[in-house]
Order: sequence, then C-alpha cells, then structure tokens
Amino acid sequence: MKNRLIVALDTDDGEEIDWLSGTLMDMVSWFKIGFQAFSALGMEAFPWFTQNRYNVFVDLKFHDIPNTVARDVGTMTKHGANMINMHASGGFEMMQAARFSADDAAYKARIPNPILLGVTILTSMDETGFKSNFASERQLTEQVVYLAKQAKDAGLNGVVASPLEIEPIRKACGDNFLIVTPGIRPKWADPGDQRRITTPAEAINRGADFIVVGRPIIEADDPLEAAGKILDEMRGM
Ligand code: C5P
Repeated sequence: MKNRLIVALDTDDGEEIDWLSGTLMDMVSWFKIGFQAFSALGMEAFPWFTQNRYNVFVDLKFHDIPNTVARDVGTMTKHGANMINMHASGGFEMMQAARFSADDAAYKARIPNPILLGVTILTSMDETGFKSNFASERQLTEQVVYLAKQAKDAGLNGVVASPLEIEPIRKACGDNFLIVTPGIRPKWADPGDQRRITTPAEAINRGADFIVVGRPIIEADDPLEAAGKILDEMRGM
C-alpha cells in the first residue's frame, strides 16, 4: 500500500515541505507537488525529490493549446516527474500532443515514460455545481466516463477521478487504465471543500490504483501517525 498512497504537499513553505517529506519518507514513496508547492520551490524541487528517491506527481493540471501543454509536459518529464496531469477537457489533440512530447523527452533523457493522467471533473464539485457550471444535460458521472475514454484513446495512462466513479470508469476503460483518486477522507478527518469523497478503505475496495491525501495528513498534529492510520485503513486493518 506504501506505493499506492500519494501525499499532497499542499503548502508554499519550503521548510515545511522539507520537514513533511523527511518525516514521512519511510512510510510514503509518492509525493504530489501542486500549485502551492510549485510556486514556492519551482524547478528547484526536482533535483531535491530525485536525490531523495521519491516518486513525484506534478499536479499542475495543464489546460492550454496542444503546443503549450506538450512543451510543459516535456519539460516536466525531462526534470524527472514520474506522474503528470492535465485537464481531459483540454481536448483529445492536447492530450495526444502531451503523450508524444512526454515519450520523446523520456527517450532523449533515457528515463522511463512518465505516467500521464487526465483530470475528469474536480472532486470539489457535486452534481448541482457540475450542471450549473457546465450548463450540461449530462449527469456528472456520464461526463467523467466520457472524458476518461477520451484520455485513454489519446494515449494517457489513466485519470484523476472521485472514488465514487471508479466502477463506471473501469467498465468503460478496462483494468489496465489507472485511476487515481483524491477526495479521500478518513472518518476522523474534516471534509473541507471536498464533496465526492470516500474513506481510504472504501477507495481501495472500489479499485483505486492510487489514493491522494493532503490535509488529513499534512495538517494533522502528527502527520506520521495520520499517514500510518491511513495505510492501515488501506490494508483493511
Ligand atoms: O487536502 P486534500 O486531501 O483535499 O487534497 C487533495 C489534493 O488532490 C489537492 O492537492 C487537490 O488539488 C488535488 N486534486 C483534487 N481533485 C482533483 C484533482 C486533484 O482534490 N480532481
């Protein structure tokens, strides 16, 4: 389970990132850097993560024209990102260009191809929010599945989605398609702004390949203990 838990280092404080990753290093092998951490550390984060042999998920949710996203994804690959995401709603052509660029950069740098993920619908959005924000006639889950299929056909390895959508995505995209789920809340943690949530155990039981956990660990009084409890829950203990 150690290899299936991704801790979101959502802070702009470089020292805190240093402390958190150092504290959790024996228990966690994946760390996610998003906008907050990237704004604080920028590209300097990469050698640091690589030296410490962590797997890095670059969660910058790219969404732009194909050429721009392809370049961004290529740059992140060259620097050693192991997992990179983009909004699947950026379009088929954008995702295809990103795949080509990532594989090309990895080949030139003689490193493995990174895992590329499409973000479907953010887990902070519920059905009502989805309908009003997108003026959509579709159900939220239908749109998630549609975007997942687009991501798969464009060559991405998987998607970021709510654990509540694993079953329909698996049905549509098969067992080899990765499903990475944020929106994870143990019973003892505050949901905050997340809406489509499950516990760590439920996400694993539903078939998530990776779970992403931020605040329940990084804002805990004892992050090591919180990560340990979550890993136990993932193991069904
Ligand atoms: O603190 P929390 O556990 O809610 O953190 C979840 C992390 O996953 C955050 O970094 C958030 O940006 C990210 N994320 C998400 N929903 C998505 C994609 C990424 O919550 N659809």
